[in-house]
Amino acid sequence: MSDSMINDTTVKKSREDQTAGEHGKCMLNRRQFLMYSGATAATASTVSLSLFPGTAKAAQAKARVVGYPRKLVGKLSELKDNVPLLINYPDNGKNSFATMVKTGVKCGGGVGTGRDLVAFSALCTHQGGPLVGKYKVVDEHRIMGSCPLHLSTYDVTRHGIIISGQAYESLPQVLLELDGDEIYAVGMMGLIYGRNQNLMPETTES
Ligand code: FES
Repeated sequence: MSDSMINDTTVKKSREDQTAGEHGKCMLNRRQFLMYSGATAATASTVSLSLFPGTAKAAQAKARVVGYPRKLVGKLSELKDNVPLLINYPDNGKNSFATMVKTGVKCGGGVGTGRDLVAFSALCTHQGGPLVGKYKVVDEHRIMGSCPLHLSTYDVTRHGIIISGQAYESLPQVLLELDGDEIYAVGMMGLIYGRNQNLMPETTES
């Protein structure tokens, strides 16, 4: 089956899942499109996403992540709450820095017993400002930013949506899986700043 056929099939299935969802329409069409747009290889993982927990749009969607490597990025036992760890995903190439953090609160797309372990690109979606070291805890909120260039901030409990600032795209989220104590990155939602596709041609090995 060609890549375009795989993409057509998965996007169609996603639409059917959304229609069948008891909470109605899902908001992730564009995100899912970006997820599928980098598909070039034969590997696949299936993950469950909690979308907008605690809101009227809450829904469960299953996303088939095609083409991304399954990469060991850390061990759960070595993480402390709210102490970020820098990882690289989906490769070690340009702009692949990402921040992984166990937030201590339930997050959209979070894994672990508390659904609190998430990871996000460490580059602002506006003009690529560095977000390394910019994770903050403010009461019950978990925030990435502010960006040092134009002050954008992102909500890491809600798939990296924008809280404030100049950016107009959510922060790309690295999809994670747990296998015992081992943490694997298995895909991404959103396009990494500075790339025209998340999977660079020379890094699409399975
Ligand atoms: S580069 Fe981050 S807000 Fe402009």
